[in-house]
Amino acid sequence: MARLLPPETAHNLTIQALKYGLAEVASKIKCPSNAGVTLKNSKLKLANRIGLAAGFDKNADVFDAMLKLGFGFVECGTVTPKPQAGNPSPRVFRLLEDEGVINRLGFNNKGLDRFVSKISASNNRIGPVGVNLGANKTSVEYGRANEDYITGMRAVWPYADYITLNISSPNTPGLRNLQYIDELRYFLDEVGTVAESMCRYEKFCPVFLKVAPDLEEEPISQIAKASLEAPYLHGLIVSNTTVSRPETLKSPNKAEYGGLSGKPLTNLSTKILKLFAGEVGDRLDIIGVGGVSATEDVQSKLEAGAQAVQLYTGLTYRGLNLIKELVSFQYETPSNK
Ligand code: FNR
Repeated sequence: MARLLPPETAHNLTIQALKYGLAEVASKIKCPSNAGVTLKNSKLKLANRIGLAAGFDKNADVFDAMLKLGFGFVECGTVTPKPQAGNPSPRVFRLLEDEGVINRLGFNNKGLDRFVSKISASNNRIGPVGVNLGANKTSVEYGRANEDYITGMRAVWPYADYITLNISSPNTPGLRNLQYIDELRYFLDEVGTVAESMCRYEKFCPVFLKVAPDLEEEPISQIAKASLEAPYLHGLIVSNTTVSRPETLKSPNKAEYGGLSGKPLTNLSTKILKLFAGEVGDRLDIIGVGGVSATEDVQSKLEAGAQAVQLYTGLTYRGLNLIKELVSFQYETPSNK
């Protein structure tokens, strides 16, 4: 039904339905007895390894509902300090034949003040809620992106179960430059200083870095090394959407510019995840994202070195039932082999 509507309209209607009680009708989902996991470095306690990726609940409106539907953890955002309209519509495109999506939303969100008012109002969450932070378009243009992440960290720190520094969205020109090694080292130094003082005076909150799948081996190795050297970084989220377009794409929408997600991203993101895992071993937690739409995709990401996974586009094609299917499956992990 929802597929008859333009993708953004369908999404906004889903958010409204979730706000007004859609999650209440969900039946209690049974997880296998060993589904719960505590991630080693971040100490995040997950009810299960299946999480909701950033971008679905940009303004922290429905994280409680998504936890009730069975997700083991939910990542809200990306939120930027100032509200932002994003790019002109249409800006989300379904690639039906490929089970993919291309989006060029450009961090549309209602801003940090409203986000904090939402997230600070919830006090009995049934699972961890992460906050994905970004920079306003104008801040990136003026070379002041780092300040936006710092503003975001300070504001959400007391309420977040973890924080993700999103330096890999392809839809804010210049943002991905933060992945270049010199910029990255400077960035990690600056955010690390803030994390240290927040940990000392506020509470412990693990920090993750979200990276792109469009990286060659050498930058992967450099990013991994810099991440290992950053004392207040606990994990990596691999990966964001891709600007690449696999030859196999069939949909006429493949020519739209923006970040591609869903099935066409599965193999690429798992390959990049494996390369990162090879560099960082178990010294950083790794959350695998990209094209998860079946239990086999989760299993491949766990085998490639992830301890947990996230998904978004799979929900568009498989609906909310996918959560139940993925959460109730018994995966093979190093601890139960
Ligand atoms: C996203 N994604 C995303 N990521 C992020 O870090 N911040 C964001 O605001 C968004 N926004 C967003 C909007 C839409 C419409 C989509 C489809 C995706 C990327 C998302 O979190 C994830 O990394 C990729 O989509 C890959 O996972 P899936 O969708 O293939 O499961």
